[in-house]
Amino acid sequence: MPRHVAVIMDGNGRWAKQHGLARALGHKQGVNTLHEITETAARLGIGYLTMYAFSTENWNRPQDEIDALMALLVSTIATETPTLMKNNVRLLTIGDMQRLPQDVRTKIENCKQQTAANTGLNLVIALSYSARWEITEAARQLATAVANGQLLPQDINEQRISDALTTHAIPDPDLLIRTSGELRISNFLLWQLAYSELWFTDKLWPDFTADDFCNALRDYQKRERRFGKTSEQLKNN
Ligand code: IPE
Ligand code: IPE
Ligand code: MG
Repeated sequence: MPRHVAVIMDGNGRWAKQHGLARALGHKQGVNTLHEITETAARLGIGYLTMYAFSTENWNRPQDEIDALMALLVSTIATETPTLMKNNVRLLTIGDMQRLPQDVRTKIENCKQQTAANTGLNLVIALSYSARWEITEAARQLATAVANGQLLPQDINEQRISDALTTHAIPDPDLLIRTSGELRISNFLLWQLAYSELWFTDKLWPDFTADDFCNALRDYQKRERRFGKTSEQLKNN
């Protein structure tokens, strides 16, 4: 079982279009999938589930869609917090939360506090997140430490960079899933995905099911993760 699964939940807009609905209704439908996959991951004992919900680049969408997404976030937190409690799920977030409207931030903070003592699945929502934003912030943090004399340039290593990222307390993803047939990373976890297994499906996010998720896990279990070594080396160890 992977310890950490990351998901790019894509295809809500196309799902809405297929059904002759407004894009916002595609996002609303997508929340049902998020609910189902979170419960499935919690039941399977997966440690971390990171869901890409809103990227830095998504701030460039039409304002009415952004407003609808922010309103959906607020209502989803209200309806889903009891589910998180029931399933022993702890909510975490990564991203530039400063950019979110105050009411959204308050609701998220409350939910994080309420679920903080839960010991099952860690549900990490990437909100106003992009990997280049995160890496730029980390570079600034390390440069500041050097300028203040708290860190020597020669002491900067991979671990220190990992520690400066918003994901510092979270292990790297073992498996990345992207729905909707797009074969790209879209500025998601660029550092952390260095050795993740990638899995793509043409299914749109609102059509994605717990069975699809389990298929991705089964495929993952068939992969040989070599981390640069040879197959023979792995077999001999
Ligand atoms: C993913 O669905 C959700 C967000 C990016 C917020 P999209 O809204 O990107 O759906 P498509 O790609 O237009 O179908
Ligand atoms: C990526 O989806 C971001 C999220 C799923 C939140 P997009 O639909 O924004 O990605 P691009 O722009 O098509 O690459
Ligand atoms: Mg999309």
